[in-house]
Amino acid sequence: MTKRVYIKTYGCQMNVYDSARMADVAATIGYAAADRPDEADLVILNTCHIREKAAEKVYSELGQIRRLKAARERRGGRMLIGVAGCVAQAEGEEIRRRAPFVDLVFGPQAYHRLPEMIAEAIRTPERGVIDTSFPAEPKFDALPANRNSGPTAFLTIQEGCDKFCTFCVVPYTRGAEASRPAADILAEAAALVAAGAREITLLGQNVNAYHGTAPPNGSRGGERWQLGDLVRALTERLELPRIRYTTSHPRDVDDSQIAAHRDVPQLMPFLHLPVQSGSDRVLDAMNRRHTAGDYRHTVARLRQARPDLALSSDFIVGFPGETDEDFAATLALVEEIGFAQAFSFKYSPRPGTPAAADPDQVPEAVKTERLAALQTLLQRQQRAFNEGCLGRVMPVLFDRPGRHPGQLVGRSPYLQAVHAELPADRIGDIVPVTITAALANSLAGEAMPATGIGAAA
Ligand code: SAH
Ligand code: SF4
Ligand code: F3S
Repeated sequence: MTKRVYIKTYGCQMNVYDSARMADVAATIGYAAADRPDEADLVILNTCHIREKAAEKVYSELGQIRRLKAARERRGGRMLIGVAGCVAQAEGEEIRRRAPFVDLVFGPQAYHRLPEMIAEAIRTPERGVIDTSFPAEPKFDALPANRNSGPTAFLTIQEGCDKFCTFCVVPYTRGAEASRPAADILAEAAALVAAGAREITLLGQNVNAYHGTAPPNGSRGGERWQLGDLVRALTERLELPRIRYTTSHPRDVDDSQIAAHRDVPQLMPFLHLPVQSGSDRVLDAMNRRHTAGDYRHTVARLRQARPDLALSSDFIVGFPGETDEDFAATLALVEEIGFAQAFSFKYSPRPGTPAAADPDQVPEAVKTERLAALQTLLQRQQRAFNEGCLGRVMPVLFDRPGRHPGQLVGRSPYLQAVHAELPADRIGDIVPVTITAALANSLAGEAMPATGIGAAA
């Protein structure tokens, strides 16, 4: 009889990727995917520690799963509960102290050892298994890659961070920066394309710091490849109509990345480039190691290379010591750059990070006010960007069914969600769509009749 695993994912796209890989590993020991947690023999929460709210969610979710586990035991069955990801890495044993019914706690670098951990949890149920080490053997080498992730796929090329922004937990939860060898990435991408991927998003906490070993027969020369080399090689060697990458750090933007936006038509004209703040004083206190002026200059270079490049960013309001003047500088930068979309957050003090110990914390009410002001401006820009698409014909990659029957949802080149009436067998197609409606967070349009022309754009 097959067992079933249910994985719930929080946090960033790297966790989405990791969950898919965990499912692959679990499959090698006979676990099929479950649709619901109550059907599962193994429930894994793949967690995020980035802000307090994200981390606290895990404990409320665990409370619910505990009831499912108890119900299963009353029927004479057994359910294992695992906590994976960044909360697991940050809190380790603390999780079993707060939630003793958890069987497995393991960090983002340990999940290739899932089979051994599960065996041990079954053998010694009272002890629990905790693995938050950063093992010497890279997990990617040990993982099977046989995913069929549909028309749009994620592929992690770089992990970890050495930048230590003073607000951020990632360097502690994900460890030091490391790039996968280019040959491994090419092989995994080829497998994804063979399984139907038409768009691959290359992932990394600092994806544009990529500096992986070049393939032995690498035609681009040099011992290491940068992100631009990888983007070119993937689009030259594979039948891959679309490629993206995320998240870039402003400090790591280099000539190879900018040139790829100029030269590679498959590289989509959208860039998530978090700036966090428009105030040099705050950027310095955050240890971002770039100024607002550097950011403006980088954006200008990128737009020169690819004039229609749509930009996205992350912002933090209420960083310790942030004054009204600092915040005004953030609004001014946003006004000047113009973002197609963005994420903005109230600063959340994270245990163990330098900024959390700063005595000059900003009051909650001020954070709330600033976030509202920033979001009003960002939403206005997003709406304006979407409205600017009205009447245009855009190639849309349809990747999933819509909410209404007969409707599909896809992505424009600028990463907007686009709805159109189309039959389900068009999932995976890139279809020219005339944009007829612009909403705050999505577009709607009419698919042009299939002519074959432009369909591969
Ligand atoms: N490596 C990326 C960001 C990864 S974390 C970069 O450097 O840009 C994703 C976003 O979460 C960050 O860009 C930041 O805006 C936000 N974030 C991180 N730590 C935070 C904290 N302590 N409080 C509020 N937001 C935070
Ligand atoms: Fe966190 Fe800064 Fe690293 Fe991004 S660059 S992951 S914000 S420490
Ligand atoms: Fe969260 Fe870890 Fe990603 S803290 S944002 S899941 S790297």
